Amino acid sequence: MSVASTQTAAEGFKSRFGGVPEGVWSAPGRVNLIGEHTDYNEGFVLPFAIDRRTFAAVSLRADSIARVASSFTEQVIEISVADVSNQTVSGWSAYPLGVAWALIQAGSNAQGFDLFVDSNVPVGSGLSSSAALESSVAIALNELWGAGLHKSQLAKIGQRAENEIVGAPTGIMDQTASLFGVTDHAVFLDCRTLHSEAIALGLKQNSLEIVVMDTNVSHRLVDGGYASRRAACESAARDLGVTSLRDVSVEDLEDAKLKLDPLVFKRLRHVVTENARVLETVKLLKKGGPLAIGGLLLASHESMRDDFEISVDELDCAVEVAIRSGAIGSRMTGGGFGGAAIALIDSSKIPELTDAVAKEFDTRGFIAPTVFSVSADAGARREI
Ligand code: GLA
Repeated sequence: MSVASTQTAAEGFKSRFGGVPEGVWSAPGRVNLIGEHTDYNEGFVLPFAIDRRTFAAVSLRADSIARVASSFTEQVIEISVADVSNQTVSGWSAYPLGVAWALIQAGSNAQGFDLFVDSNVPVGSGLSSSAALESSVAIALNELWGAGLHKSQLAKIGQRAENEIVGAPTGIMDQTASLFGVTDHAVFLDCRTLHSEAIALGLKQNSLEIVVMDTNVSHRLVDGGYASRRAACESAARDLGVTSLRDVSVEDLEDAKLKLDPLVFKRLRHVVTENARVLETVKLLKKGGPLAIGGLLLASHESMRDDFEISVDELDCAVEVAIRSGAIGSRMTGGGFGGAAIALIDSSKIPELTDAVAKEFDTRGFIAPTVFSVSADAGARREI
């Protein structure tokens, strides 16, 4: 694991650009506890920010040039901030430069800046390294440019950067989790009203932990799978005459089945039942704590595997092994087609789980997984 910190970001800044940055801001990756592919359907999600962060060391410049660098490559990308568009930027720098672009679109100052990024959020694992990067840069430029936007507006800035400059048609969940995270809590978000509420996870009191089983099968949101699922949801909403799938209830499903193409119906059924599972999870967490939510996590995984069809063999295998190793619940997390699964499990059983997943992956000829615990951490903040 990389050991990014405020200090490594400031040191990286010094070695690439010289001098001390005006500040270092950080933002976390996220794990989604439950509520997958519901955000762009104006539904409900329940992610939490994790103790893996991206650090952005930034200084303003006197001109209008943006220079961006990171610990992952020697390259320094240089562009006039006014020239940023989906034609002029690509690769990792499209995320921070896209944020600058979106802030300018929202009426912000377009002053140049030097930016150095270091991160310990794994990339391509479904833990939202992209939102961590966007959110760290968004809070930094919001402050340095004096834009004065609040966190829910910054979440939209990050989403706009990702949709329009990176070209991934993602929802608002990841940026919200990264900006609104609260230690030991999940962030319940109504993606229609954007109302959010911190929900106590109660893990420690129950000696539980959330373990990430990263399959190391890389997932990319710019590939076609994510967009095709989104398109199926939009087509279901059109055929049913609703603004979004948020307006379809579990009781409406029987009727909807008669109206929709069978594949589109399966996509719909996932979204509708997943929304119901999120609400039920919140209710159970408030009432009895995390020991009660295992069945919902597993049902969510099965729905993604069978109805939304975004799981892969490695993720199904991780979930099966987790349940066999005594996990209370387990599911893939994030956009799908690779990435990570999570297990909610008693702390004492983690060594057994880690061992069992590694063995089963080996037996089945999969790439070795990376297994680690995460805790719910605070959202984006200024470090120094
Ligand atoms: C990715 C997207 C999110 C959300 C999830 C699926 O993480 O960035 O907006 O759609 O996939 O729940």
